[in-house]
Amino acid sequence: MKEKVVSGIRPTGFLHLGNYFGAVKSFIEMQNSYDCMFFIADWHSLTTRPKPEDIQKSARVILAEYLACGIDPDKAPIYIQSDVKETLELYLYLNMNTYIGELGRVTTFKEKARKQPDNVNAGLFTYPTLMAADILQHRAKKVPVGKDQEQNMEMARKCAARFNRIYGVEFFPEPENFYFNAQALKVPGLDGSGKMGKSEGNCIYLHDDDKTITKKVMKAVTDNGPQSANSEKPEVIENLFTFLKIASTQDTYDYFNEKWNDCSIRYGDLKKQIATDLCAVVAPIREKIQEYMGNAELLDKIAREGADRARESASATLQEVRSIIGFRK
Ligand code: TRP
Repeated sequence: MKEKVVSGIRPTGFLHLGNYFGAVKSFIEMQNSYDCMFFIADWHSLTTRPKPEDIQKSARVILAEYLACGIDPDKAPIYIQSDVKETLELYLYLNMNTYIGELGRVTTFKEKARKQPDNVNAGLFTYPTLMAADILQHRAKKVPVGKDQEQNMEMARKCAARFNRIYGVEFFPEPENFYFNAQALKVPGLDGSGKMGKSEGNCIYLHDDDKTITKKVMKAVTDNGPQSANSEKPEVIENLFTFLKIASTQDTYDYFNEKWNDCSIRYGDLKKQIATDLCAVVAPIREKIQEYMGNAELLDKIAREGADRARESASATLQEVRSIIGFRK
């Protein structure tokens, strides 16, 4: 039997190439070798009070984008967290065995509390137990997450182990972190910075059209060119070559690398090549995003079927949990 994998996706806006070559690609690879389930964490987004009209919209966008990238709902059901109310019951039980001391030590809580001092709410405080419920309701073994989720994952393992200990059972597996960052290609920024990120404002989005992509690439930061043969590339140039690695063929990479080495490189040509090759990566995804966004019925159907699968898995867990705790099944 394939190992159970669960991961949550924060609906924080449009996906960019950094997301695509990071989390998204690894999810797509994992769906072939694991028993995967993905969900859009819209409840978690309430910690910052989004506008009601934005809630469904952002869930729908992120769903369309993940599907366009290649999440196959037949292999890996994808659902919207708020469609599966079972999670809340487990969240309550887990909260009863989680201590305010340990929740208060979570650095993401402390950071958020600093950022929104007039809204340090209990939901923010118990973010880790909701996340633990997301995972434990499916009795998942592995959770693909970034490094920033280490403490939340530690809390999820504590929740599992503590429940097992309190009730003298071996019911919940302790979910392991599965770092996709380790194998994932780090996509650099176009502004010479090391990383493409939304807050950095240096992104190429999966919904960008060819013209936008080309314009962004042509504006990328460069230097004065190589000063001597076979010299080391400074970071801004290394970044451009990383784009070739990501989107171009080996031949293309070698061609420009030789041009760098013999000092005949023209950055204009290099950028044009990068723009062309990135457009070729993004265009088919963009078209699929548009297709999904134009088909609300299909999106709803996929989300509903995903929720049914998730509910099935969660309610099986909860039946056992209720009986272990002493409630009627
Ligand atoms: N906390 C995760 C993030 O910020 C999102 C998330 C919520 C999650 N529930 C989860 C991730 C369960 C993995 C498993 O990215």
